Amino acid sequence: MTDARTVLRGAVARLRDAAVEDAAGDARRLLEHAAGIGRGTLSVHLPDRIPPEALERFAQLVAQRAGRRPMAQITGCRAFYGRAFRVTRDTLDPRPETELLVDLALAAPFGTVLDLGTGTGCILLTLLAERPEARGTGTDMSLAALAVAQENARSLGTASRATFLQSDWFAAVPPGQFDLIVSNPPYIARDEMPGLAPEVRDHEPRMALTDEGDGLAACRIIAARAGEFLVPGGRLLVEIGHLQGEEAAGILSRAGLERVAVHHDLAGHARIVAANRRLA
Ligand SMILES: C[S@@+](CC[C@H](N)C(=O)[O-])C[C@H]1O[C@@H](n2cnc3c(N)ncnc32)[C@H](O)[C@@H]1O
Repeated sequence: MTDARTVLRGAVARLRDAAVEDAAGDARRLLEHAAGIGRGTLSVHLPDRIPPEALERFAQLVAQRAGRRPMAQITGCRAFYGRAFRVTRDTLDPRPETELLVDLALAAPFGTVLDLGTGTGCILLTLLAERPEARGTGTDMSLAALAVAQENARSLGTASRATFLQSDWFAAVPPGQFDLIVSNPPYIARDEMPGLAPEVRDHEPRMALTDEGDGLAACRIIAARAGEFLVPGGRLLVEIGHLQGEEAAGILSRAGLERVAVHHDLAGHARIVAANRRLA
């Protein structure tokens, strides 16, 4: 048997060769995962011998990471807003930037919420977990993603208040009005795709990333029909790319929504466009 320190050294070198950004951090996390060691506790186990089965598992995980598979797909899990979400090759890996959308959503009361393009369900299920009286619907075109969202709903104890629906944006959503509509749609323009990191470009579902156009197609559809599905005064929050603030705000204003605002993240980048349905 080989000790953890030696095994780790080899893995870090392999991930560095593959140009993995945080080679040391990822190697440590993968070894913890393979050896069933608690997250962040590897340091105390460094002198320990790693059993052959764990070594074998670790070698496979490192090979996947060297192929630039995202960490969340390898470990099957991502923390979002303090909760663990299952992630697969069929879902977008929830991003910390999206937590701003959740903060904005939670800044005002709501009883019903519609999440368009729910993916893992990270936005919808976080909102339901944070607001135990609320109910919500999550839609996605991907049945595989919806299955993951359903699994996350069960593990977070929110399944009885969440409905999932395969739908092309609003197309299959039954008529009705929500207090809040949220969406993190695919907003990357087609011509930006080649410049993305291999983890994203080659491993995340393409339909979760781009509309194959200018990145604002979903924003246009959502803005055009949001009024039908919002109560008077109801809120719309849509995540956008950092250069899309002005254009997205114009789309929402021209669709007749009011109190249109662009919210920026901590880095000062435009991140969310918000608006309300008119009261009357
Ligand atoms: C950027 S991901 C966001 C996933 C998740 N809400 C999150 O924030 O991590 C966009 C999601 O929209 C879904 N999607 C793409 N086109 C769609 C469409 N026409 N109608 C509904 N959902 C769509 C994708 O499958 C993907 O799950």
